[in-house]
Amino acid sequence: MARLLITGAGGYIGTTLVELALGKGYEVIALDRFFFGEDLLEEFASNPKFSTTKKDIRDLRADDLAGVDVVVDLAALSNDPSGELDPDLTTSINHRGRVHVAEISRAAGIARYILASSCSVYGFGETSELTEKSPTNPLTEYARSTFDAERAVIAMGDADFCVSALRNATVYGLSKRMRFDLVVNTMTRNAIDSGKITVAGGGNQWRPLIHVRDVARAILNIAAQPAEKVNKQVFNIGGENQKIRCLAFAVRENLPFQVTIEVEPDNDDKRSYNVSFDKARSVLGFEPKYDVPFAVREIYEAVKAGVVDLGARTVTVDWYKRLLKAEQLVDATRLNGRML
Ligand SMILES: NC(=O)c1ccc[n+]([C@@H]2O[C@H](COP(=O)([O-])OP(=O)(O)OC[C@H]3O[C@@H](n4cnc5c(N)ncnc54)[C@H](O)[C@@H]3O)[C@@H](O)[C@H]2O)c1
Repeated sequence: MARLLITGAGGYIGTTLVELALGKGYEVIALDRFFFGEDLLEEFASNPKFSTTKKDIRDLRADDLAGVDVVVDLAALSNDPSGELDPDLTTSINHRGRVHVAEISRAAGIARYILASSCSVYGFGETSELTEKSPTNPLTEYARSTFDAERAVIAMGDADFCVSALRNATVYGLSKRMRFDLVVNTMTRNAIDSGKITVAGGGNQWRPLIHVRDVARAILNIAAQPAEKVNKQVFNIGGENQKIRCLAFAVRENLPFQVTIEVEPDNDDKRSYNVSFDKARSVLGFEPKYDVPFAVREIYEAVKAGVVDLGARTVTVDWYKRLLKAEQLVDATRLNGRML
């Protein structure tokens, strides 16, 4: 079975992918700065097919890739507000860091490189059912650096180096590194905590959505495809498109208690996009297995059972703000001269 090196393996998608890949018999090297803690992958420590490398992607070297067949590149400052905290840092990790990972992979003779891109590259979509050929319109630092990375790595693909990019929809569902800053998860958490969901910006904005375990399935699907099918290809990966207002109702319907929904008027967040997933369906045969009602119920059950992290690190931008503040105060935690 192939050996995967997963950057960002300690993250929301990464921890889910590690579990799925090990379950399918892959060998996994988890490379991460582990900004959200090394404890999240602890349960795999005794698995002989699993190892970790604590490293910044910007310091990746060829010898980190010994014996690796596929590099899955997930590491990034992973949302718009985190991307705005320090635009230079965002470019340095999300654009140049990923290009560095792809360049080192190609130079080391790795056969495959898979990038986690994002549907946010579409920005405010002029049309519905945006396909991979539709114009892009990245509106934020996060979306721009994602798109720049995507363009650069796709251009590197050749007969010896198979490169694919997944433009992931907004992800939801339970993960070991839980994120309560993603729309379905946030609404579910707010409903549980306060019996209320607030819908910002009028609620008519479209969002493409996908369950975190379906993202992990899509990555392993691409890793197993013949190279000629996926080389230099970009795939929209999602399960459905929903208006934010409808999502709030879907969350409410799947919780066993009274929930109030409050819709706030229009705001400055102009991100709205409705995306087609036909290419992934027809080329990869990829069909999602999970949906929003399933995720709302699984999150609710996990919160009720006390088995989900509800702590500060589940809100990405707040956590990075803390780390940046710590950087100003503490020098000792630097890794190879880098704090963030
Ligand atoms: N979650 C979503 O809704 C979503 C949607 C579209 C695309 N994506 C993309 O998927 C990828 C993973 O997202 P996620 O939700 O798992 O995010 P996450 O924040 O949970 O995980 C990112 C991981 O990358 C690590 N990391 C950050 N900078 C690093 C660096 N310089 N070197 C090494 N490790 C570093 C962090 O420690 C973290 O474990 C990202 O590239 C993100 O842009 C996510």
